[in-house]
Amino acid sequence: MKKFSMIEINKKDVKKMPAEFWKQYFDMRIQLNEPPGQKTPFLDADDLKSKFSDWYKQDKELVSTSIVKKNDEFYGYISMRRQTQTYRDRYLQVFYNSLHTDDIKNIVPLISKQIRKYYKESDGKILFLTDNSTFSRLGEELKGRIGEHTIQMALNPKDVNKDLIKKWMKESPVKNEDIRIEFFDKIPDEHIKGYAELFDKLMKEMPKPHYFSCSFNADELKKKQEDVSRKNIVSYTYLAFNKENKIIGMTNIVINKNDPKYPYQYMTGTYKEYRNCGISKWLKAANFLRIDKDFKGKIREIITETSPDNYGSKRISKLMGYKYIGCRVYYELNLDNLPE
Ligand SMILES: CC(C)(COP(=O)(O)OP(=O)(O)OC[C@H]1O[C@@H](n2cnc3c(N)ncnc32)[C@H](O)[C@@H]1OP(=O)(O)O)[C@@H](O)C(=O)NCCC(=O)NCCS
Repeated sequence: MKKFSMIEINKKDVKKMPAEFWKQYFDMRIQLNEPPGQKTPFLDADDLKSKFSDWYKQDKELVSTSIVKKNDEFYGYISMRRQTQTYRDRYLQVFYNSLHTDDIKNIVPLISKQIRKYYKESDGKILFLTDNSTFSRLGEELKGRIGEHTIQMALNPKDVNKDLIKKWMKESPVKNEDIRIEFFDKIPDEHIKGYAELFDKLMKEMPKPHYFSCSFNADELKKKQEDVSRKNIVSYTYLAFNKENKIIGMTNIVINKNDPKYPYQYMTGTYKEYRNCGISKWLKAANFLRIDKDFKGKIREIITETSPDNYGSKRISKLMGYKYIGCRVYYELNLDNLPE
């Protein structure tokens, strides 16, 4: 008979789990089809154990991870994050990934149980993230309603449209005589305020509802930069400045120097009055050329994610050579409707 159960591993449990556990968990994680941007960088079971405990130390939003077992087999995992930085709402983010596509009905009570355990009124919404149709079935079983879609795209450096981005690099400065662009791998103090203001504005102007958006002020940005640089993560950033030296455009790609295979193209944008002049194309072209040169041969794919309604952003990415690789559906769950 099939028996489903869960083992929860949280911060305090990491040291207690036996070596055999980490081996089984590692074997499962490397077989899982992880969503883009979360490709598993674990070298072996010990590496997984140490990264796992680091996540709990550094990532205050991570609240719980549970392994789902079928009899003795590791079947999948549920992880939960308490997202506190979004503009729209605070929310509890629930993510499930599994080796299997069957037995969905048996997983539903386990996910419901974890949500009930960790949901607090102050979380606002409950979001269940799905990356394929099987997990979407789970979203339906959990009686969720679709809140948002995003599309994911990837650029293999070999597929970049080199001629076109070189053309952008040549034409955009001519079209925008009063604008200059500059590279930063860390935003210096004198630009932190201007950067945070633009970032904030762009986050608000992205097509809604953008659950993955976040907000920060100048002080928070400074702290965030220091935190990530300790992990050897850098943000390759090009900024555009007007004649008055005000930041009017930006693009950034986040890359883990320890594991540069899948950098993440994060935010790009310009203030409204500077749009459709080719400035974002210029910034993205320059940043690509820079990161490709600095990490020659080490990047497999640059991953990005955007709303299907973001026509400008999708256009630039597609022209550059990004290809659609998947979509994500965010189900909004209601605690009162969750099945037992
Ligand atoms: C999307 C955005 C980044 C584009 O910046 P920009 O500086 O105007 O970009 P560019 O001028 O270099 O290029 C924009 C391209 O998109 C096209 N475009 C813009 N809006 C479009 C729309 N609604 N439908 C189709 N194409 C559109 C433009 O025509 C142009 O392409 P073309 O020159 O080949 O005709 C900008 O609108 C923005 O800052 N938006 C808010 C923040 C955001 O959503 N960022 C992306 C997050 S993933």
